Amino acid sequence: MSTDAPLDPGPDLTQGIAADTLGDGTMLVGRVGEAAVVLVRRGNEFFALDAQCSHYHGPLAEGLVVGDTVRCPWHHACFDLRTGEAVRAPALSPISCWRTTLRDGKVLVLGKLAADRHASLPSRTESPRTIVIVGAGAAGFAAAEMLRRMAYAGRIVMLSDDDAPPVDRPNLSKDYLAGAAPEDWVPLRPDAFYTDQGIELRLKTSVVGIDVRAREVELGDASKLAWDRLLLATGAQPVRLAIPGIELPHVHTLRTLADCRAIIARAAQAQRAVVMGASFIGLEVAASLRARGIEVHVVAPEQRPMERVLGPGLGDFVRRLHEEHGVIFHLADTASAIDAGQVTLNSGGRIGADLVVVGVGVRPRLELAEKAGLAIDRGVVVDECLQTSAPGIFAAGDIARWPDPHSGAAIRVEHWVVAQRQGQTAARNMLGGREKFDAVPFFWSQHYDVPINYVGHAESWDEIEIDGDIAARDCTLRYKRDGRVLAVASIYRDAESLLAEATMERESA
Ligand SMILES: Cc1cc2nc3c(=O)[nH]c(=O)nc-3n(C[C@H](O)[C@H](O)[C@H](O)COP(=O)(O)OP(=O)(O)OC[C@H]3O[C@@H](n4cnc5c(N)ncnc54)[C@H](O)[C@@H]3O)c2cc1C
Ligand code: FES
Repeated sequence: MSTDAPLDPGPDLTQGIAADTLGDGTMLVGRVGEAAVVLVRRGNEFFALDAQCSHYHGPLAEGLVVGDTVRCPWHHACFDLRTGEAVRAPALSPISCWRTTLRDGKVLVLGKLAADRHASLPSRTESPRTIVIVGAGAAGFAAAEMLRRMAYAGRIVMLSDDDAPPVDRPNLSKDYLAGAAPEDWVPLRPDAFYTDQGIELRLKTSVVGIDVRAREVELGDASKLAWDRLLLATGAQPVRLAIPGIELPHVHTLRTLADCRAIIARAAQAQRAVVMGASFIGLEVAASLRARGIEVHVVAPEQRPMERVLGPGLGDFVRRLHEEHGVIFHLADTASAIDAGQVTLNSGGRIGADLVVVGVGVRPRLELAEKAGLAIDRGVVVDECLQTSAPGIFAAGDIARWPDPHSGAAIRVEHWVVAQRQGQTAARNMLGGREKFDAVPFFWSQHYDVPINYVGHAESWDEIEIDGDIAARDCTLRYKRDGRVLAVASIYRDAESLLAEATMERESA
C-alpha cells in the first residue's frame, strides 16, 4: 500500500480532451509534460490536479469527487479541487493544481497554478497568545500543523514525553517493521519543519499537572507553562500483562519509534517469535516478522482473530491469510509465563521464543485529565466541537469521547485518521471556530498485500451483509442493526468504501 501506484501515462492533456467524453464527477489521468495529472469534471467546471495523493501516493483518479473535493481511494484523504489543499487527513501536504481552459469543445490543461493555500480555510476569529499541545502524536501534530496553515502567528508549544519527533505511527507495525520502508518515511516532517514553522517542540518533557484556573501546565521538572488554549492529545499506551517474565529484555510492546527499533534490533538475531494478541497491531506485527523470515506464533484468547470488530467471515479470512504466510495460531489460549527461551501457555503447552511482542490492546492516557478534574467517561468527555468540560481546554485522538452524529452515541476510537482529523478540527476551534467534529470514523489495516478499509462504527450488529467474495479478496461487508448500515468493511473495493463514507455523511447531515 505504501508504494507508488503504477499510473497509466494516459493522454497528453495539453492537446485537449473532448469535454463531452467526461461525465459529471468523472476523472481521467493524463500527462502534462512529465507530470501525471488528473482531470476532473464537476458540473460544467474542469479541474486538473496532481494525479497522486500526497500521503502514500494513492491514485486519485480511482477516488471519488464529493462536492468541491476529491477523495483518495486508499485512506480517504480529501483535497480541495480549486486549491489542492489537503483539507482532511491523513494527507497533510497540498497537491498542485493546473490551469484548464475550454477551446472548441475540448478541455486543455495548461501550466501549473501558483499555490493558494489558505483559500479554502475558514477565517480566524480569535488569536490566543499561547497554545499548548500536550502530545506529539497524530492529533497533536495535525493540530500544530493546521494552526500554522491557518496563519496563526501566536506561540505554539508541543510537549511530548517521547524522545522522537512526531512519527507515522501506523508504519511502525507495517512497512518499517517489515524492513520495507526506509528510515526517512517515519518522521511526519523533517526536524527543520518545527523551527521553520515556529513550533516549539519539546521532547522528553512530561506534563504532570494542569491548573485549570491559573491556565498553566506543570512539567516534570516542576516548571510551569502558561496557556490561553490547551489541547490534550495524550493518546494511549499498551496494556502490560501481569504474568511472570513480562519484564524480560526480549519481551516488547509497540507504540513508539523506540519500541519499534528495539523489536527490529531483537528480530535481527531472533528465530522464533511469540505475538500475544490477535488484534490489528498484533497481526500486523506477525506479518512484518514473517517478512523478516522469523517463525511466528500468535497466542490469543479469542476463537477467531478480529471477530469482535470485523465479524466471523473476515476473522476466518484473516486467520487463513496469516496461515498461508506461515503464522501458527494458538487461539482460545493465553500465556501464563515467559522465560528466557519459551512462553508457557495456560493450556499447558510451551512455545520456544527468543522474541515476544505483546499486543493485547491499549489504555487511553487519562491521568492528566482526571487529575485536573475534567469530565471523564471511559475517555475525556468532549462536546461536538471537541472542547472538554473546562473552557479553553480541548481534547482529541485516542483519549477523546465525542458525540458521534452517525452512530448517535458518544464514542471513543483508536484510529490514526480520526485522531488527525480531530486535531485539525480542534485547531480551528481553538482559534474561535465552532466547527462540529462530524467526520465518519475511518481506519485501515494492512496484512501482507491485503488492505482492509473500514468506515463507520459498529460496536455490535444484528446482521452482516456480504457482497462479493471474501476469499477472493474482493468484498464489501455491511454491519447493520435494525436494517441500518452502521459500518462498512471492504477489501479492494475502495470506491465502495468512499461511497459508503459519503452516504453516511449525507445521512446524518
Ligand atoms: C504500531 C501501531 C500501528 C497502528 N496502525 C494503525 C492503522 O493502520 N490504522 C489506524 O487507524 N490506526 C492505527 N494505529 C492507531 C493510531 O496510531 C492511534 O489511534 C493514533 O496514534 C492516536 O493518536 P493520538 O494523537 O491520540 O495519540 P498518539 O499518537 O499516541 O500520541 C500521543 C502523544 O502524547 C504524548 N504524551 C502522552 N502523555 C503525555 C504527558 N503526560 N506528557 C507529555 N507527553 C505525553 C506521547 O508521548 C505521544 O507523543 C496504530 C497504532 C500503533 C501503535
Ligand atoms: S495514499 Fe491517499 S490517503 Fe493514503
